[in-house]
Amino acid sequence: MVASLVKILLIEDSLAEARFLQEVLNGAKLEQFSLVHVKRLGEALNQLQQDDFDVILLDLTLPDSQGLQSLHPLIQCAPSLPIVVLTNTNDDQLAIESLRKGAQDYLVKRQVNLELLVRSLRYAIERKQISEALREANETLEIRVAERTAQLTKAHELLEVERMKDEFISIVSHELRTPLTSIHASLRLLSTGQVGQLSEQGQQILDIAVTNTDRLVRLANDILDLERIESGKSVTIQKTCDAAELIVQAVETMKAMAAKHRVTLSVTTASISIWADPDKVVQILTNLLSNGIKFSPPQSKVWLAVEAKGKEVLFTVKDQGRGIPAEKLESVFERFQQVDVSDSRSKGGTGLGLAICRKIVQEHGGCIWVESELAQGSTFYFTLPRFNEQ
Ligand SMILES: Nc1ncnc2c1ncn2[C@@H]1O[C@H](COP(=O)(O)OP(=O)(O)OP(=O)(O)O)[C@@H](O)[C@H]1O
Ligand SMILES: [Mg+2]
Repeated sequence: MVASLVKILLIEDSLAEARFLQEVLNGAKLEQFSLVHVKRLGEALNQLQQDDFDVILLDLTLPDSQGLQSLHPLIQCAPSLPIVVLTNTNDDQLAIESLRKGAQDYLVKRQVNLELLVRSLRYAIERKQISEALREANETLEIRVAERTAQLTKAHELLEVERMKDEFISIVSHELRTPLTSIHASLRLLSTGQVGQLSEQGQQILDIAVTNTDRLVRLANDILDLERIESGKSVTIQKTCDAAELIVQAVETMKAMAAKHRVTLSVTTASISIWADPDKVVQILTNLLSNGIKFSPPQSKVWLAVEAKGKEVLFTVKDQGRGIPAEKLESVFERFQQVDVSDSRSKGGTGLGLAICRKIVQEHGGCIWVESELAQGSTFYFTLPRFNEQ
């Protein structure tokens, strides 16, 4: 077995003590010790600058330093080096104090023998290694905590910016809505011709103004709807309602739009009791139907169906339209997300409908998702809780 070499710096003013310790260590078989002996603290500090050691053996009575005073400069000079203090008999108090001040162990000079000395040096080295490892782990941990805290602060700031943005949008929409509603009503009145006839060109311009004001009013309403749901201002009042009745209401609302786009609505309905806010369910159905109609070619069909599935009810709206690319199947439920940037102009939407649908469905504890194949069509599904009779 190869003996390991332990390098000791002995700080001891008495030559006799130093010789004695050297002799004791010479008797070691399993380990080899190399002892560098210095008589003063100043010399020791110089030595530490020049050479590497594994452990310090420190006498507490030195010509240039007394008692525990020596510990501090040594620890400062070599923070990771273990120190074993050599004390005289009846100096227990001093010995214990030295441990408090950073020494790893102490030995009473008169009691030193090979076994005790070797064990003390080994323990001191190991203890110091463990405490160094702990200190390093602690430092790493502190750095990670600081990094995470910085990330959290950043995330918090971003959330705050997001909140302010939402609030700003909602205030603007709110402020816009009243004058918009008034402009809308006035334009509609003008377009009926009740307050005077316009030229054909004037009528055309007015029709464009009416259509665009329609869109603006819808946009302001949608933004406010979403904001109200997100901020908890819109209360969902769930009660028992009949899925079939809600479907009838939604289809009634969308009939005209379907006729205009020459799309046939095909409805499979069933009288199932659900536990939901009826107005909000109709809102989901009308948006899904309007999307189905809007993104389908003339002469195609849009199917609406409902069926009971265990404790839930499943609504399905299927179309034969242009479909949604696979990578957009999730994002269409985000605010202002439209598959085609030109959708808002060409199809008249704002990209808020599905975000509102998802919020409402989530408030009911249900799920909403879509399956789609490009140029074949899309099928939107959503679930709501059934009314539990017991
Ligand atoms: N049935 C569908 N077929 C093809 N694409 C669809 C369909 N439904 C939704 N999409 C795509 O998802 C986008 C988001 O739909 P969403 O209902 O949120 O907004 P919108 O219909 O454009 O506007 P809004 O509903 O606010 O008037 C649509 O603009 C469209 O690109
Ligand atoms: Mg829509």
